[in-house]
Amino acid sequence: MATNSMNLEDIPSESLMSELLRRMKCASKPDKRLILIGPPGSGKGTQSPIIKDEYCLCHLATGDMLRAAVAAKTPLGIKAKEAMDKGELVSDDLVVGIIDEAMKKPSCKKGFILDGFPRTVGQAQKLDDMLGKQGVKIDKVLDFAIDDAVLEERITGRWIHPASGRTYHTKFAPPKVPGLDDVTGEPLVQRKDDTAAVLKSRLDAFHKQTQPVIDYYSEKGIVAKLHAEKPQKEVTDEVKKVLS
Ligand code: AP5
Repeated sequence: MATNSMNLEDIPSESLMSELLRRMKCASKPDKRLILIGPPGSGKGTQSPIIKDEYCLCHLATGDMLRAAVAAKTPLGIKAKEAMDKGELVSDDLVVGIIDEAMKKPSCKKGFILDGFPRTVGQAQKLDDMLGKQGVKIDKVLDFAIDDAVLEERITGRWIHPASGRTYHTKFAPPKVPGLDDVTGEPLVQRKDDTAAVLKSRLDAFHKQTQPVIDYYSEKGIVAKLHAEKPQKEVTDEVKKVLS
């Protein structure tokens, strides 16, 4: 009888070997539950894939999940679109629901990186409740501290490969061929909310609603402040130091 399941012989031995090595490396890594907080353009999405690979975590970015829902025109996406286009936050209930679901994925077994969540003190309290029920807690909050003045250039020069989430910048991290993804050669796109005008509302929302989340976790003594205005590689070094 025909079957859809793949035989091990069908998988190239290099792929098997690299997966085996990855699993061996991951087995020795301690569990980690991390939050990345910072204003738009501070580098959360840039550093996340590096942290994810280093510590074998899943990367849960509420912005990416919401944009996928908007593109697929799901009921969630239809509700979220208006707020996102204006640079305002979507309701706590919508994002808490998607995070609760996403954290159950097998790739989150060794822990997770929350990128862009929680963004209000209400979301932080709900997250603590969710984790408390599982008997776990957040280990570290990385505060991507940066001056607002630097962010417009970062945001307006950003280009994204939607399928992988790879991020480029015309000046700071240009692709090998302008407008094309380095790995697949597919076209890069700009986000609809990456304009100077919408950035103003996003920064306003950050200072009013998200800055208090940093204070909330500071009281628990788990916030590590990064110098997010430094070049990418230096920020990566700081992150690794904080997490080692
Ligand atoms: P979201 O997608 O989370 O956007 P954001 O928080 O505004 O963050 P960004 O993705 O813009 O910035 P980033 O820090 O990841 O920067 P990046 O690394 O790409 O949210 C979008 C919207 O969704 C919100 O406005 C809201 O409506 C909604 N939403 C999401 N979560 C929500 C929640 N929890 N509750 C309610 N609503 C929610 O870097 C930017 C650029 O700079 C890149 O081009 C990069 O190459 C470059 N760069 C990065 N690091 C450096 C460096 N060190 N030096 C020089 N250039 C650098």
